[in-house]
Amino acid sequence: MDFLSATLARVKPSPTIAVTNKAAELKAAGRDIIALGAGEPDFDTPQNIKDAAVKAIAEGKTKYTVVDGIPELKKAVCAKFKRDNGLEYTPAQVSVSTGGKQVLYNALMATLNEGDEVVIPAPFWVSYPDMVLLAGGTPVIAEASIQTGYKLTADQLEAAITPKTKWLIFNSPSNPTGAGYSWDELKELTDVLMRHPHVWVLTDDMYEHLAYDDFEFCTPAQVEPRLYDRTLTVNGVSKAYAMTGWRIGYAAGPEELTKAMRKVQSQSTSNPCSISQWAAVEALNGTQDFLAPNNETFVRRRDLVVKMLNEVDGINCPVPEGAFYVYPSIAGLIGKTSAAGTVIADDEAFATALLEETGVAVVFGAAFGLSPNFRVSYATADEALLEACTRIKTFCDGLR
Ligand SMILES: Cc1ncc(COP(=O)(O)O)c(C=O)c1O
Repeated sequence: MDFLSATLARVKPSPTIAVTNKAAELKAAGRDIIALGAGEPDFDTPQNIKDAAVKAIAEGKTKYTVVDGIPELKKAVCAKFKRDNGLEYTPAQVSVSTGGKQVLYNALMATLNEGDEVVIPAPFWVSYPDMVLLAGGTPVIAEASIQTGYKLTADQLEAAITPKTKWLIFNSPSNPTGAGYSWDELKELTDVLMRHPHVWVLTDDMYEHLAYDDFEFCTPAQVEPRLYDRTLTVNGVSKAYAMTGWRIGYAAGPEELTKAMRKVQSQSTSNPCSISQWAAVEALNGTQDFLAPNNETFVRRRDLVVKMLNEVDGINCPVPEGAFYVYPSIAGLIGKTSAAGTVIADDEAFATALLEETGVAVVFGAAFGLSPNFRVSYATADEALLEACTRIKTFCDGLR
């Protein structure tokens, strides 16, 4: 349709949202569906955070606020960066938006010109390349492999950088793989960046607190302080605090950049929800005690899913360090035919046949830039995971 913009024609709708919608549709039609597509914890928002929101409503904190975050929240964000990451930021360096998604979008809109390249390691969170395209830039995909636990190597990063590179988007622990970079692994990447002073780092630390076993989270500006002046450190309350619906994300970085991001936001959505901002103040300043038990639950579910999937012939599922996803390879299943006669030509065919024939909804790997794989979100009840993995095994065992 000529009426729609050429920019929009370059992007595709979010495939993860599409899978979630398709699963919901089938469920509404009466099918027995187990949805492992959504990227959100099944826990409820902690009570102290809900109480803070109710209090904000009662106190009439229901009006427009300053565009990029109330002072109380910016102060809480600065304290969080200091406490958790050893990073010093002033409130003027902080920007608060309607979810981490808007933070990333603002940053790209504020900085990209036509021809600017953004290096995105694959597998990547689905929105990165399309946001870059929407902002007029060019995504450059640097593929990591299962052999390195889906982590980019220094050589792979070096090869992806050109004189036109503006940003590296970095995400650890990762959506969709759950892979987390150790200090040493990240240092190898920051060493590469030190050789390319024109490249900035957009680090998406959304899954910081969802880190398991002996994995210790670290972030680029902490590992290489000399990158501080060209790093935007992005985080949010959606995942760790089970607040996906509240829509609060934040970032800190050079003031000139956060000021530019504020300008984008001031002409699009203005302030994030006032009530959610007060809830986020409590999330960051209040007790963090629920994180450990939540993580115990996630580890138990991760171990269950990894074990069951690795028992399936043709599936190889690495053990991730964090987040609530696993990203198994199905290289051993490509070319086979399902009991209902579907040829598993690629991972999209696999996910479609799995949903139609067994009612298990997963997201196919091509959506995340590395195939043949699929992503399972294990942020759901143990019984549902057990049943889903049993169905996946029966489906795969039935392939000929
Ligand atoms: C890696 C990553 N970054 C950012 C986001 C966006 O988070 P929010 O819900 O706060 O917009 C998500 C959500 O799925 C994510 O997985």
